[in-house]
Amino acid sequence: MTRQLRKAVIPVAGLGTRFLPATKAMPKEMLPVVDKPLIQYAVEEARAAGIEQFCMITGRGKTAIIDHFDVAYELAATLRERGKTEALAMLATISLPPGSIATVRQQVPLGLGHAIWCARAFIGEDPFAILLPDDLVLGETPCLAQLADAFRETGGNLVAVTDVPPEQTHRYGILDVGAESGRLVTVKGLVEKPDPAVAPSTLAIIGRYVLLPEVIGHLAQTARGAGGEVQLTDAMARMIGGSPFHGVRFEGRRFDCGDKAGFLEAQIAFALRHPDIAPQVRALLRSYAEDGV
Ligand code: UTP
Repeated sequence: MTRQLRKAVIPVAGLGTRFLPATKAMPKEMLPVVDKPLIQYAVEEARAAGIEQFCMITGRGKTAIIDHFDVAYELAATLRERGKTEALAMLATISLPPGSIATVRQQVPLGLGHAIWCARAFIGEDPFAILLPDDLVLGETPCLAQLADAFRETGGNLVAVTDVPPEQTHRYGILDVGAESGRLVTVKGLVEKPDPAVAPSTLAIIGRYVLLPEVIGHLAQTARGAGGEVQLTDAMARMIGGSPFHGVRFEGRRFDCGDKAGFLEAQIAFALRHPDIAPQVRALLRSYAEDGV
């Protein structure tokens, strides 16, 4: 059994109901932040953390996601013909090496835990990362690379965590916090979507994980939890006390792109860093602040 982190599971089978009507015929994960779809940010982040093998958990209407990482012969030929060398070079960076991307179908979106369980054959006996593409993190070191570093140190389960306002605990998996050392927080317990009154802390799990393969056995035994879905948090909670389990207070700013306001905020933050449009967007924002709409 290899203990190196080389595999990532990216679940993309959700219905994206919070983004209807945009997601009626288009996958949420293909929504662009400035000019790049959410799924591409996730794959680039994973590759920067040393991931070599990908498994996308897909569902009906999600083929655009897999096509995005394929070779686009006609587009490439047309760009070449028209001398668009920059666009052509950019295109070449998107597709993944042959054989490095697998897909598994989750026929019914029964929740994140169920989606991960669907990847059991891909995971086998190896540790693996999970990236939820609707969480974007902007920072010096990509978020998953921070988890990969921590994994080299602990060799155990890891979740990326951040403090949320107390009134938002019901939207996240929340940590019961043990000892802290630097950015690492020992996980004593996990509760999925607790009401603020009963939440053990305000430290919330965001969409980056490194898990040991044992989670699959726990998922197989996990009944449907909050919201009638098979909850990954419930299966992870069963692993506490076995192998090491830590939260990583990652460095960087996280945007919840599964939410309309969070998505808009990400557009602004990424636009302000985009060399082509940053000055224009900055001027625009200034004029809105000064003159209103
Ligand atoms: P969300 O919890 O954001 O759900 O999923 P969703 O269906 O995408 O969106 P809403 O809440 O209806 O607006 C987080 C990630 O897990 C995937 C989603 O595709 C998304 O990338 N997911 C969720 C699955 O693959 N399968 C599921 O059953 C649920």
